[in-house]
Amino acid sequence: MEKRANFGSKLGIILASAGSAVGLGNVWRFPTEVGENGGAAFILIYILCVILLGVPLMVSEFVIGRHTHKNTADAYQQLAPHTPWVFQGYLGVFTSWFILCYYSVVAGWTLKYLFSAIVGKVGTIEDSAAYFTAFTSSPWLPIVCMVAVMLMCHWVIARGVQAGIEKYSKLMMPLLLLIIAVLVVCSFSMPGSEEGLRFLFKPDFSKLDSSVVLSAMGQAFFSLSIAMGCLCTYASYFRDDAKLVKTAGSVAVIDTTVAIMSGFIIFPAVFSVAEVAPDAGPGLVFITLPNVFQIAFGHVPFIGWLFAVMFYLLLLLAALTSMMSIHEPTTAFLLEHFHLHRRTATWMVTLSCIFIGVLCSLSFGPLADVKFLFGMTFFDFFDFVSAKIFLPVGGIIISLFVGWKLDRQLVYDEVTNHGTVGFRAFPVYRFILRWLAPIAISLIFLNELGIL
Ligand code: PFF
Repeated sequence: MEKRANFGSKLGIILASAGSAVGLGNVWRFPTEVGENGGAAFILIYILCVILLGVPLMVSEFVIGRHTHKNTADAYQQLAPHTPWVFQGYLGVFTSWFILCYYSVVAGWTLKYLFSAIVGKVGTIEDSAAYFTAFTSSPWLPIVCMVAVMLMCHWVIARGVQAGIEKYSKLMMPLLLLIIAVLVVCSFSMPGSEEGLRFLFKPDFSKLDSSVVLSAMGQAFFSLSIAMGCLCTYASYFRDDAKLVKTAGSVAVIDTTVAIMSGFIIFPAVFSVAEVAPDAGPGLVFITLPNVFQIAFGHVPFIGWLFAVMFYLLLLLAALTSMMSIHEPTTAFLLEHFHLHRRTATWMVTLSCIFIGVLCSLSFGPLADVKFLFGMTFFDFFDFVSAKIFLPVGGIIISLFVGWKLDRQLVYDEVTNHGTVGFRAFPVYRFILRWLAPIAISLIFLNELGIL
């Protein structure tokens, strides 16, 4: 039998997993959520969610993947053969494929904006809201951009685990972290930036209610790439000496740091430009920021240009490393389950996602009136079903599976590398998986469906 691929180094493991976690969710969604949900108060709740729920669930996915060294669907089949738990393995694979279909559309937008920034266009856009709408609703250009980013992702995945995912994560993640550091400095040095920091970090506890807590939990799961088959698949390439708890901790620290740094970049910049409203919601990155760049461009052209280019490059890198991790679960499944060649499996995933991605992309323009189930456009439907249904359902099943179904000793052996690595919080970890996580996630789920 052909030897299964592995990540070659511990750094590779951490950077690839962090690459999955750090994505559009950090740079675009997190600052928006913080701004809308009470600043520092939200950040506090978010960090608690990451520590109490995110890290234990991430460790659990690592346990499943590393123990079996199999793709996500076959991993559940090995651990609980011919039981309903196997459903979760297939759900994980399906969810990742499903997410890739629409995530690639937004990733394509970042490519377009990077290109516009490079040619100096972002600094001269008159009406950025109209520019954004004209672009996303045009039939061809967003599709071309989506296909281009899918092909970049395809190119990496087709190369395999070490020569593809690991190599490019080791290249892209340090570059991404460097860009963030430079942008934080740039943003802080803009006059009036303190106001933005105050807005971002002023703890407004009056805004805290159950829906804010639930938003923080949802954001933590999405941001850490939990319950989508990605972490489990990556962990199946971990070597036996990789320390699972430490890796999950490092990924959570990198992911949260990048999210908070993105807030440091965006809000001081936005506030330094008085004419721009801070709470532009989801349009922050594609509508509000181009205004900021335009004004910065007017004051100091080169710095404004550089700021814009680096910012959209950051977004593209973040999106690409996440896309790689969303592509791999289905590719690994097709490759191993049906004994296909990696190239064939990669093309099957890429082409099928492009096909659905075209429909998602067109739902901002020519297909805007075509409503799918529940009166949603294709894009909204894919976003809603994956983030609001598959993600919480997967989270509940994974915590129950590792907490109740898997043998306690098996889980202990995995998280401690057969007793060679200390993990004194093991009973707490198990308690979280058995009780806290399933109950807390069920609450988010019911609340999001409007049942609670
Ligand atoms: N965690 C990524 C982000 O914050 O953008 C998004 C993501 C990656 C979602 C991988 C799902 C996934 F499977």
